[in-house]
Amino acid sequence: MIDLDTYDFGDAFPKGFLWGGATAANQIEGAWNEGGRGPAVSDYVILLDRETCAREGIVEGGPLNSVTRQSLAERKANEDAYDFPKRRGIDFYHTYKDDIALLGEMGFGVFRMSISWSRIFPNGDDAQPNEEGLAFYDAVFDECHKHGIEPMVTLNHFDMPLHLAEEYNGFASRHVVDAFERYAETVFRRYKGKVKYWMTFNEINHVYANPCTCCGVIWDQPEDGGNPYAGRWPEKFQVAHNQLVASAKACIKLHEIDPDAYIGNMLCRLENYAETSKPEDQLQVLFEDHFNWFFTDVQAKGEYPYYIKRFFRDYGVELQMEPGDLETLKKGTVDYISISYYMTYIMRYKGKISPEPSGKLLTEIKNQYLDQTEWGWPIDPVGFRITLNHIYDRYHLPIFISENGNGITEERDENGYCADDAHIAYMKEHVEQLHQALLDGVDVFGYAWWGPIDLISSGTSEMTKRYGQISVDQDDHGNGTGKRGKKKSFYYYKKLIASNGADTSTDNIVIE
Ligand code: BG6
Repeated sequence: MIDLDTYDFGDAFPKGFLWGGATAANQIEGAWNEGGRGPAVSDYVILLDRETCAREGIVEGGPLNSVTRQSLAERKANEDAYDFPKRRGIDFYHTYKDDIALLGEMGFGVFRMSISWSRIFPNGDDAQPNEEGLAFYDAVFDECHKHGIEPMVTLNHFDMPLHLAEEYNGFASRHVVDAFERYAETVFRRYKGKVKYWMTFNEINHVYANPCTCCGVIWDQPEDGGNPYAGRWPEKFQVAHNQLVASAKACIKLHEIDPDAYIGNMLCRLENYAETSKPEDQLQVLFEDHFNWFFTDVQAKGEYPYYIKRFFRDYGVELQMEPGDLETLKKGTVDYISISYYMTYIMRYKGKISPEPSGKLLTEIKNQYLDQTEWGWPIDPVGFRITLNHIYDRYHLPIFISENGNGITEERDENGYCADDAHIAYMKEHVEQLHQALLDGVDVFGYAWWGPIDLISSGTSEMTKRYGQISVDQDDHGNGTGKRGKKKSFYYYKKLIASNGADTSTDNIVIE
């Protein structure tokens, strides 16, 4: 990782800074029933395009990308009646060579991707791993290295073998913790020397809002049709505990198997502002911060933080621990901190400790000083610098930006080109603030744009919400040639990377 002592604090980023992009297996691979892969929960998540959302009154911020016991049974019984976009992804399983070549052409130094657990263990807990699945990732990593790209691998990005979800309720069960440890050990041994950077769970804090997507927990749909994930704090924190133990076990294993590799956490960082200067609003920010930091506090410091105990008391959370859990958490801490950063939130005092809003994708109170994306996500580059300072101040560990970006709609020409100036503006402003954070002394060693190739949205399974520098000719329903194209942002990011961050100007972009 970067030694900030050698940084000259000039216009460019530190030498060796990792520029790149991030994806997830369930949003790109497709080939859901090829190569010996077993089914995953994400294979039963349906398209929620704008029309459907408008018709059914579905708004972002709820548990969009999930299933309940009832909806899963219904979808399994009537497979033909539904569109399951994550089954097709963008066909990366077959196109990875060309896709990685395009990433290499942009100058990527890092490609964050995830392994599909059910491609390695089709049921999640099989006696033997699936050699075809293991060989696929060997080929992907080799291809990355061919182009000078370091693969960075998330062990679990919103991914759960269906069998483990249906039979054991995902991370609600210790059986799944054991299965995860075996899966992690298998891939660490196999890819030792090929993969230097790992991370355990993507956006682990989503257990608050959606334990299905993030932890494979499938609950019943309440009879009143309400949100199955509202409240239920004792169960959610038990799931979180199990997952934190699983994360720590993976860290311990990696350090034993490959002492030259690094492993990090991954938190969806929610930076909060108080609505007014009322101390009570600021108190709400403190509460919300605690609920967000909680996961990283355990993963980086190796113990439950003081503040969570009050919450556990007030909400009747009594964790079931196994002997040795606390020692495992202490020993299995992460080497670096990684976050996704998309936006900031505004907090108003609610009269009591209440973590309910955390993990919601949309802030209830609009920030009048910020523009928003077409999906209503506030755009806050300065908040990025603030959050990076907060993180470094708290942990003093190197930081990797796992995700940052904006989803937009766009019109492409027959070559797949489009002038996606909104992506460019978002990147420019965030990279400039990231540079400011480096000048502040924050140790950031890499930046991954979310979705450098257009992919299936996690929240709604649309293709319409595009993040990529590389376009994909595919619509929400899977129509299209799948052909890749280079957008204006492709040339912008290439130029930015070539200058190691020094050239963020938008007026000298050369379209080749
Ligand atoms: C993060 C996830 O929450 O946000 C990604 O880690 C996801 O998987 C990204 O794709 C953007 O969200 P969406 O819903 O626009 O795809």
